[in-house]
Formats: sequence, C-alpha cells, structure tokens
Amino acid sequence: MSGASGKRVLLVVGGGVAAYKALELIRRLRERAVAVRVVMTRAAAEFVAPLSAASLSGDKVYSDLFSLTDEAEMGHIELSRAADLLVVAPATADLLAKMAHGHAGDLASTLLLATDKKILVAPAMNLRMWLAPATRRNVETLRADGIAFVGPREGEMACGEFGPGRMAEPDEIAEAVVELLAGETSLPLPTQAKPLSGRRAIVTSGPTHEPIDPVRFIANRSSGRQGHAIAQALREAGAEVVLVSGPAGLPDPAGLETVHVETALQMEAAVARALPADVFVAAAAVADWRVAAPAGHKLKKSADGADPPPLELVRNPDILAGVGLRASGRPKLVVGFAAETERLVENAQKKRAAKGCDLIVANHVGEGARVFGGARNEVSLVCAEGVEDWPELDKGELARRLVAEIARRLGPRA
Ligand code: C5P
Repeated sequence: MSGASGKRVLLVVGGGVAAYKALELIRRLRERAVAVRVVMTRAAAEFVAPLSAASLSGDKVYSDLFSLTDEAEMGHIELSRAADLLVVAPATADLLAKMAHGHAGDLASTLLLATDKKILVAPAMNLRMWLAPATRRNVETLRADGIAFVGPREGEMACGEFGPGRMAEPDEIAEAVVELLAGETSLPLPTQAKPLSGRRAIVTSGPTHEPIDPVRFIANRSSGRQGHAIAQALREAGAEVVLVSGPAGLPDPAGLETVHVETALQMEAAVARALPADVFVAAAAVADWRVAAPAGHKLKKSADGADPPPLELVRNPDILAGVGLRASGRPKLVVGFAAETERLVENAQKKRAAKGCDLIVANHVGEGARVFGGARNEVSLVCAEGVEDWPELDKGELARRLVAEIARRLGPRA
C-alpha cells in the first residue's frame, strides 16, 4: 500500500484529444487507493462523456461554476479544499495560460486559482503550441509559482506531427501523484506585502480627563473616532500599533495594543513607554490645563457660601511637541492635528514648526462645523512643502488617506 492510500485528488480534465487518457488515469489512481473527484471544462466534455468519468471515479462530475445545486451542495472553494492534490490532465495551452494569468472564468480555472493545495499539471498540446513563446512564458511563470509538471513527452501526436507535446502516460502521472501526495501538499497563503509591514506606530486618541476631585474632572468633547480610525488604518497597512487612548468610550480596535489613560500626564508617560517608533500620530484632544492640586476628597458646597472653591490650573505638557522636538530617538515621521477657526494654514504652519511635526492635519472649525463627534471631516494637510486641501471625507477614509501619505513618506523599509 502506498503513502497515497486514502488521499483525495481533484482531477481537472482539459479539452484536448488526450482527455480520453484522463479516464485511464482515474483507474490508475483508484488502483493506488487514491480517491478521485473529476472536474471537466466545457471543452473536455466534448471529448469524453462526463458519465464515463463519473462511473470510473464513482463520484459526481463537476463542470459548471454557476450550477446552483453544485454551489448549494459544495462551494467551489470547498471542492478544492476537500482534495489533497489538484491534478490537471490534460493541461491544454489554454488552461496553462489561464492559470499563469490568474483567470477565473469557469469552474476549472476558479478552482485552480482558489486552491491552497499543490497542483500537478500534465500538459498535452500540439508541439507548435507547446513551443510557442507565449506557452514558454506561461510554463516558466507556473514553474516559478511552484506548479509541478509531468511531461509532456515526445512522440507522434494526433495531429500527425512528431515532437514534444504528447501527454505523459497515465501510469507516469499516477506515479507523480503518489510521490507528491507523500510530501506536504498544502501551500502557505501567499503573503501580501503591506506598505507598513515591519513599522511601529504610536497614536494618541480621545480626550483627557483632568481631575478636580475624586468625582469631578475637566474634559472636552473629543470622541476619539478619528484617532481610533487612524490606529486601525495603520494596523491594516501592516504596522504594529500602540494606541494610547483617553476615555473615549469606543471599543478597542482589533489587532493592536490599546493603552487606556485618563490624564495628560498619564498619556505622556504611556507614549514615552511605547517609544521608539517609526511614526507618531497625535490625534488626542489633550487638555491644555490640569488642576494644580486635585482634592483628595469630594469638594463640598459650603454652608457659609464661601464656595465656589478657587481652581488653580497649570499647563499640561505638550505631548506632541515633546516627541517632535526630541533630540534623539525621534520617530521618522511625526503627525499632529490642529483645529483652527481662522487663518487655518498660517496657524497650522506655525504649529507644525513649533511642535517639530512633519505633517499637520488642519481642521477648519468654522461656524457650525462639527469636528468633535461627527462622522466626517474636512481637512488640509500642511507640510514643509505646502498645503493640500482634501475633500470632505468620512473619518475612516480620511484615516486611510493619511496612512497612505505616511507610507509614501516613510518609503520602503531599508
Ligand atoms: O496646540 P494645539 O492643542 O492646538 O495642538 C494640537 C495638536 O497637539 C494635536 O495633535 C494634539 O494631539 C497635540 N497636543 C498634545 N499635547 C497637548 C496639546 C496638544 O499632544 N498638551
């Protein structure tokens, strides 16, 4: 008994004269205790009867991508998932071209594109087609993609010519199948290179709460939605992200580390702990002032009318400036926000220089404008080279656009 015993092959039969040999291949595989399920292209069904393949394989033959019953019984992804190996025999010039270029216009090509399993192809075609530059290129592409080949062999062909192009004999294909089934048959998922893979980002978001006493605090109306959306977009672009969030009342975005803080001082400390990073985005609405000496107990209304108590305020540290103006260990890219009511660009440019930022996302807070809490934002991007006005965007779209700009500026990782 071979190591292939009990394994399952999905046999894709292409439309060529050699299709009749696929019937023989089914028998050879079953002799080796390999289960075979057959998929036929429309052209293949012109050469051999699906019924013959069904009776030899002992299973239903699949051919139509849009057959509702097939899709209801078994989706096309499931068809290839249920197999240990995909075998294409005969693999026509057309099927090889479709595979090399990722076409998915019918069931056979869709299965071959969607599979996570190894693929063995047994080409069969006229020798001029096999030797044609286009086929040469496609074969080279497929080999580079890790597709295994068996044949073609030299010999006399149905068209009367002699040369390479004849499909390997069923026994030889069956042996190649057994050999492949003995090894690892699953392919790793192709890794998609993401623009910020390997980069580390820190994002501040939300308001801060500055305590007056144990039950009262100074706060602002920041929702944290923009900062959270940026953290998420950075993560989706492949970055490792630390989100330092004030009390925003938003769910923690998936796939990244969220550090929860209350006050500006805590936010500053959390950012310092999260450094170093490649990019820092300060989207938090940090309170400018905090109460100098918060009371340790709840302040009471006094009976003699001596209240309200005086509140002495002191300046909070500027977290963004602290990072942007760092002498050493400054992130390569520092991005700040500015909400201005007048002379937007001029003020944003000043802020950019004063806080050591590369980019300022400037928000015009005109009359009636809703920066805080709204779902949309209209901003200008202010950098050393000038200003770019962006259209009004959903906060998620704005985040993705900003992240694309960040990725462009950081460039590929060295
Ligand atoms: O000076 P202004 O508050 O307008 O600057 C806004 C920008 O500075 C935002 O990016 C905000 O996150 C950041 N900022 C900060 N720490 C502060 C005040 C503002 O990081 N204390």
